[in-house]
Amino acid sequence: MASQTAESFFFRKVSGSKVTVSGVLWRPGFRHIRVHRQTFLANQKRCLATPRSVNRISFPVLEYFTWCLAIASFATAASLYRTSVVHAEAPPSPSPEQYIRLDEVKKHGPDNERKWVIKGTRVYDITEWIPGHPGGEVILRAVGGTIDRYWDIFAIHKKQDVYDILESYFIGVLDPQDLVDGQVPQKDVDDPFVTDPQRSTKLLFHSERPCNAETPPDSLGQFVTPNDVFYIRNHLWVPSFEEDDLALQIELPDGTEKGYSMADLKSRFKPFTITATLQCSGNRRKHMTEESRSTNGLQWNVGAISNAEWTGIRLRDVLADAGLAVDNWDEEKAKHVQFMGNEAYGASIPIDKAVDRRGDVMLAFAMNGKPLPPDHGFPLRVMVPGTVAARSVKWVQKIVVSDEESSSQWQQRDYKCFGPNQGGKDVDWSAAVSIQEMPVQSAITSLRDIQSHSLEYRRMLQVYGLEEDAIRVEGYAFSGGGRAIVRVDVSADGGVNWHQATLLPDDGRGSKHWSWKRWEWIVPKRLAGRTFVVKAVDDSYNVQPESYEPHYNFRGNLTNGWHRVGYSRGI
Ligand code: HEM
Repeated sequence: MASQTAESFFFRKVSGSKVTVSGVLWRPGFRHIRVHRQTFLANQKRCLATPRSVNRISFPVLEYFTWCLAIASFATAASLYRTSVVHAEAPPSPSPEQYIRLDEVKKHGPDNERKWVIKGTRVYDITEWIPGHPGGEVILRAVGGTIDRYWDIFAIHKKQDVYDILESYFIGVLDPQDLVDGQVPQKDVDDPFVTDPQRSTKLLFHSERPCNAETPPDSLGQFVTPNDVFYIRNHLWVPSFEEDDLALQIELPDGTEKGYSMADLKSRFKPFTITATLQCSGNRRKHMTEESRSTNGLQWNVGAISNAEWTGIRLRDVLADAGLAVDNWDEEKAKHVQFMGNEAYGASIPIDKAVDRRGDVMLAFAMNGKPLPPDHGFPLRVMVPGTVAARSVKWVQKIVVSDEESSSQWQQRDYKCFGPNQGGKDVDWSAAVSIQEMPVQSAITSLRDIQSHSLEYRRMLQVYGLEEDAIRVEGYAFSGGGRAIVRVDVSADGGVNWHQATLLPDDGRGSKHWSWKRWEWIVPKRLAGRTFVVKAVDDSYNVQPESYEPHYNFRGNLTNGWHRVGYSRGI
């Protein structure tokens, strides 16, 4: 009997001491297919045949071929073999000769010819799986130990077809004498976050592993956010790196590759500096949840956004050096530039943005005049100004110019928006476009009473021609794509009467408007109602929506409704 899902077919034939596993793995969103087949000796570590792994056959050119291959594999395996489904959840009882000592597993780490992992208390020799693993070489982190914590981080594995693959590499179970309460002792379980750095306690933490923390409101008051309170959005762990460890690899559509060390990048390309705001697509998600309905994801307030001065080199220059015709590229073959981080995160941007002379896409190595902090990508990150921060990949180690977007889950099945009526389970992720440029946004970050009798504030009041008690309202406004903020409308009575806030001068740098605009408004206290409101306008006359319901999306992305703050409630 064959195991069949919408995405994969797997078969196992047991013939004497030989086991053959055949499979076809296909993910609709990924536009590629993997054909996999291998034979090994039952209960032994040695593989008899190298697995055939046909990765990334692209549609539509090879669509016909791919489907024929899939169907042929299915038919062949079904007819040739009496197949049996391998279920991770229903393990056969181990016989004592299959017991493996924990120390033996530890010896089969990344440097061993045979690479073993533990899942629960079961041991697998995954040597043959590694070269074709869709998640790449990060898998090596787990070999010689347990994969359970990684399995939780990469929940994409928690499905039957992946369990089926894993089970086809089963070689035995851990010897009970090495277990504590039937489990691998805690001290032997790898902690993926062990290399994470110390962080400022001023940050407002949403989660620690992986670290997600927002900039506190008082630090949002400065044009340039200090490094230690710049918001952190990590999807995984923070890789531990020395600058000399970096070997950036660039791959072009014709398959040519070129490598660069940090010394190469710093000495061979002209550095430049910009100021640019990074904003998480989930910034202000909390407001959509509160004013509309529940949303999936971290419930960020106004602080999943910060602004810094970035120094690095132009991606365009490096791509040109690697051999890409950056002014006249093959538009059929080069449509996207994919970035891969050292910890396995991946994303891509359209090539037009990547090579645009005025796009300022940077490989950044400094932030506010200092080397990048570990949480922000040391030693090298991508900085894509004006674009959702999820594309500014940290700890970048590979860049691929391709006709396809990144196949990572963060490009394909996240960072997209759907209609207000569309729910989480039934959406077709491949039908929605990936978020790139950010829409217009603004938020109030501070509301402060200003007493007219205070010497400290008298001068400030005079600037506004006031001699009475007032309220100082401050905040940020930002738009993507380098669009300038041209107006910020504020109201002290819930949006009945409007005024224009003062846009504060700054020394933003870059070919376009990549930085947020700080603004302030001082309003006599007697005019204050119960709710303050802000909305911004950019130079394309884009405005923020009044409410959240019309642009509600279940992921709570790109929340940019008017920001309302109760006078007594605070930010
Ligand atoms: C040991 C057995 C493992 C097996 C059989 C396995 C199998 C797979 C499969 C089938 C996929 C593609 C899933 C899909 O596209 O639907 C995948 C993706 C991935 N795996 Fe694994 N994996 C294993 C271990 C690991 C470990 C230990 C890590 C991390 C340390 C890891 C990291 C990843 C990543 C990062 C992706 C890609 C996620 C993305 O780009 O969206 N895998 N793996």
